Amino acid sequence: CGIVGILGRGPVAAQVVDALKRLEYRGYDSAGVATLDGGRLDRRRAEGKLRNLEEKLAVTPLAGASGIGHTRWATHGRPNETNAHPHATARIAVVHNGIIENFRELKAELVADGAYFESETDTEVVAQLVSRELERGRSPAEAVATVLPRLKGAFALAFLFTGEDDLMIGARHGAPLAVGYGQGEMYLGSDALALAPFTDSITYLDDGDWAVLTRAGATIHDHGGGVVTRPRQQIAQSAFIADKGNHRHFMAKEIHEQPEVVGRTIAHYVDLATGRVKLPTALPFDFAKLRRLVISSCGTAYYAGLVAKYWFERLARLAVDIDVASEFRYREMPLDEGELALFISQSGETADTLASLRYAKGEKQHILSIVNVPTSTIARESDVVMPTLAGPEIGVASTKAFTCQLAVLLALAIAAGRARGTLSEAEEQRLVASLVAVPGAMADSLSSEREIEHLARELAKARDVLYLGRGPAFPLALEGALKLKEISYIHAEGYAAGELKHGPIALIDEAMPVIVLAPHDAVFDKTVSNVQEVAARGGKIILIGEERAVEEAGVATFAAIGMPALDPVIAPIVYAVPVQLLAYHTAVVMGKDVDQPRNLAKSVTVE
Ligand code: G6P
Repeated sequence: CGIVGILGRGPVAAQVVDALKRLEYRGYDSAGVATLDGGRLDRRRAEGKLRNLEEKLAVTPLAGASGIGHTRWATHGRPNETNAHPHATARIAVVHNGIIENFRELKAELVADGAYFESETDTEVVAQLVSRELERGRSPAEAVATVLPRLKGAFALAFLFTGEDDLMIGARHGAPLAVGYGQGEMYLGSDALALAPFTDSITYLDDGDWAVLTRAGATIHDHGGGVVTRPRQQIAQSAFIADKGNHRHFMAKEIHEQPEVVGRTIAHYVDLATGRVKLPTALPFDFAKLRRLVISSCGTAYYAGLVAKYWFERLARLAVDIDVASEFRYREMPLDEGELALFISQSGETADTLASLRYAKGEKQHILSIVNVPTSTIARESDVVMPTLAGPEIGVASTKAFTCQLAVLLALAIAAGRARGTLSEAEEQRLVASLVAVPGAMADSLSSEREIEHLARELAKARDVLYLGRGPAFPLALEGALKLKEISYIHAEGYAAGELKHGPIALIDEAMPVIVLAPHDAVFDKTVSNVQEVAARGGKIILIGEERAVEEAGVATFAAIGMPALDPVIAPIVYAVPVQLLAYHTAVVMGKDVDQPRNLAKSVTVE
């Protein structure tokens, strides 16, 4: 979905729609525009494509030189006109990307206060909260500043206010938002691409920032409320195609995009109204009848599959057999007819994965794939495709595709658990609530970037690095080691923490960093024991875990990266963030070509 805002010099409704067209690639299922004309707010909204909105505007045009617009990808509530953005009260209109996680609590509070809701969306809660602050006599900027800290989740917002023709406010928390500068005009957009026809002078807001725009310019505040300056950039026309935003590398941009794209992916797989999983496509097989699931893929996608093995086995009591595709394709594995084979691939073109798919097809398996490129060969040759909505991934080392794959896999494991009767409705709802909390938790964990940058200077000095984890954190340890070696060329190995004593413990000395992934789960204490074994041998421990748990465990660490308190089931998705940041910053410190590491290809179409 996408956001556009314009403070213009003439009627803006048509320009807003034009800008929305440039955001069509993000996908959407309804759209809307609101304008201010002589201080009066009015809006038009329509289900389906932008052309439907244009038809409405042709019949009943919107005047006014201030406007906001939105394309919506339904999260809370069906994609009908009532749920389409902008949402409005008598005092404001707002458009929103992302999910407001705590909207149920906020809605209950507002309803108790006498508010009436016309839509099923989480966005309307924001409209009502800001309106209530305005009624209490606050200024628009004060009202927004009061409401923002109450919103949980990953989101971007743009507001217009009744009676304020020369005012627009935008806020960014986990979903991107850019400010554009024109000649006596100002703009807001989900990315620079949306604003390309109007301006090439852009400021990307940082996470937590909110901006007050008038035709004379923008005042940007950070999450504490203080006024800050953010760099203004001139965007080259050619860069509009593949836009790095504020970031030095695509990999950094893709790491930072995760709260948004993972949120978008999750929204595609759950029904927030019922709090249950809702797969976008019907399944041509019955999970309840399966005796075994085989998974195959390569590289990072393989590690996503390894994490999923824990989920399918635990939540759905479904046995999983998993192998890298280059082995799977030649293993001549016996497969019973009518079982399920699952393939995971960002590109959908990886030769070994495709060959494994064809082998499984020959063995009469149902073929399910999770791909990021819906037109790819793997997608075309599958019986059913579950898409990841990560958007184009440019950095060779996979980041956002991985976490989107994990989100889809967890949704699938929950669906399997429901079908197989291993999850009650209440358990399913609890799991879905945790899944929905992922984008917000990812946004929180991105805030440890400074510390990680600092640590990266240490890591950059190492010759070897060991990554440890137990349970689903074990495949994440493998992924951490892969990320580091791919882009920094430092030798790294991932190990199951409990396996340490069977070999790698011999390597431990003061020179080798040992990165421990320790989410607060059922095996946390066991992981801590393994960490003590490393500490006893003078190892240099970098612990990634929840602050309180780590403190209570009393481990002597070289450094710790604090994580938010989480339901352990989602920890692999959220802990991917510090793991990626560590590899990224280490490679940057070492001056490596982060986006295009030597010898590696983004899509490996050879054997
Ligand atoms: C290459 C890429 C990896 C990716 C792997 C599998 O090795 O460098 O980042 O994980 O291929 O690619 P796929 O497109 O199938 O996910």
